[in-house]
Amino acid sequence: MKIVIANDHAAVDMKFEIKEYLESLGHEVIDVGAQDKTSCHYPEFGAKAGRMVAGGEVDGGVLICGTGVGISIAANKIKGVRAAVCSEPVTARLVKEHNHANMIAFGERIVGIETAKAIIDAWLGAECMGGRHQLRADMLDEL
Ligand code: RB5
Repeated sequence: MKIVIANDHAAVDMKFEIKEYLESLGHEVIDVGAQDKTSCHYPEFGAKAGRMVAGGEVDGGVLICGTGVGISIAANKIKGVRAAVCSEPVTARLVKEHNHANMIAFGERIVGIETAKAIIDAWLGAECMGGRHQLRADMLDEL
């Protein structure tokens, strides 16, 4: 898969670790996030990654900030983005199956690296279930 990854200054270390992890799984990763810990603004990075997902340039996206919340709110402002913040893998699976989440978000200040990898595995390993869930995903996109 082609995956965009974005982060702010609060998640530089985890971004590089997750980028390397995704590449080790064979994915192509486009990094549009902050490259160092100089204070910056997560709305810019979330929106940039969200536009790439909504525009079909990539197959999905990973968002990381201190909590995962700010950067996901930014991405969710982009029509067609369904970004979900997760702090454990069960939710990460369900947001793909039921909400057809095309972006996953988590916080470097909230989860450890092994949990972050488990979240990635659960989200990438799950399938959108379609049916009534497709209808609801379409409703979300119309809001
Ligand atoms: C940055 O200090 C922090 O506010 C940001 O990374 C994020 O947690 C916001 O949601």
